[in-house]
Amino acid sequence: MKYFIHTYGCQMNVHDSEKIAGILESLGYESCKNAAEADAVVFNTCCIRATAEQKIYGHIGELKKIKRQNPNMIVAVCGCMSQQDGVAEKIKDSYPFVDIVLGTSNLTMLKDAVINARSKKKSFNVDFVSYKEEDFVESRTSFPNAWVNINYGCNNFCTYCIVPYVRGRERSRSLADIISEINSLLKDGYKEITLLGQNVNSYGHDLQNGENFAQLLHEIGKLEGKFRLRFMTSHPKDLSEEVIEAVSAYPNICNNIHLPVQSGSTEILRRMNRRYTREDYLKLIEKIRAKLPDVGITTDIMVGFPGESEQDFSDTLDLVRQAKFSSAFCFVYSRRKGTPAYSMPNQIPSDVKRSRITQLLACQNEVTKEISREMLGKRFEILVEGANDHYKNTMCGRTESGRLVNFVGDENSIGEFVTVEIEKAKSATLWGRIVTEEK
Ligand code: 5AD
Ligand code: SF4
Repeated sequence: MKYFIHTYGCQMNVHDSEKIAGILESLGYESCKNAAEADAVVFNTCCIRATAEQKIYGHIGELKKIKRQNPNMIVAVCGCMSQQDGVAEKIKDSYPFVDIVLGTSNLTMLKDAVINARSKKKSFNVDFVSYKEEDFVESRTSFPNAWVNINYGCNNFCTYCIVPYVRGRERSRSLADIISEINSLLKDGYKEITLLGQNVNSYGHDLQNGENFAQLLHEIGKLEGKFRLRFMTSHPKDLSEEVIEAVSAYPNICNNIHLPVQSGSTEILRRMNRRYTREDYLKLIEKIRAKLPDVGITTDIMVGFPGESEQDFSDTLDLVRQAKFSSAFCFVYSRRKGTPAYSMPNQIPSDVKRSRITQLLACQNEVTKEISREMLGKRFEILVEGANDHYKNTMCGRTESGRLVNFVGDENSIGEFVTVEIEKAKSATLWGRIVTEEK
């Protein structure tokens, strides 16, 4: 029996798909390359923007024909989209060939749901239940990197964002559990650990014993052996001096911080409920660069939030030039039902949004090119992550600061650290050559 998982959205979902894969493998399924040859198809969905949702409904619809040819195929819809109000009912009504709908918190129920679906019993459950990490045995797919959840959910309620409604309130894992998971991953040969949380900086706020994110970083920093630690996402309002200190204190912790700014306008930030100003953000960046001179700071930015004026938008462009992000994920604001921004006045017309996103992308592209040019001729330690899909005998990996570099190499080196000299740095993509090898 074979399974296929369609994964949409962020790294949190990528990691949840590893948990889904683990459950299916425990039931005797093996992974395969496309839905048409699968006996079980899982959609692990995202609802952060309307475009994601439309695409997913389209893909679910496409399965109708395939299932007609293979009536025993099990179809499951999991993840953030199914957790939204009304979606489970909509799927039940409009996609009757779907056997299972589970919310983000109901993953532990997938095993029984699949067993029931084999005897044609449907399972729809999106009532919130809390699970423990120990309930899962992941089938990991991103060697040499391993994702590790540290906290789930979000309490911030940024006014545009659906995540707090579909992922629930913040829940932190205990520090001891996280360390023990990381220890076993390192023992298994993983070379990069990426801590995941909607807001990693608020890790521990809900724990009784005062454990916090800086403390967690210290504990991981002290672990022996050569590996890299990354973490995402940091909320600017919660990134403490102690965390910056910890990143600077341990060579294993990468000088790489994902710090979504969302907008360069203080007024828009206020209406987004971000709880920092443009000036706070720029000061924070200065503080980070003072302690971590070669840090790579990446960000998320949105254009077209309700009421965003030309001046607000030009403040965003100006911040992008000042902040010198090594890269930025740029989004067009998408109206999400159930969020406060949905009913804010002065929604921005789509042609204005399109024009702003084009300008924003061009602006960040210039910044990225400039940073790339500064890297020319310099040497960086790279963790070899995998083969470049488009070029033969070409591997890729990241610098400590998070920049992706391509170089000639072979697949045996995946998971090794190499030193690469940058030879071509035209745009976002860097090319280099291996100069020495460290094992
Ligand atoms: N519209 C557009 N982008 C959004 N994001 C979150 N909600 C929305 C929305 N409604 C973006 C933010 C966040 C990233 C994960 O997705 O920039 O940081
Ligand atoms: Fe959404 Fe804001 Fe929470 Fe990030 S911090 S998940 S943007 S509500």
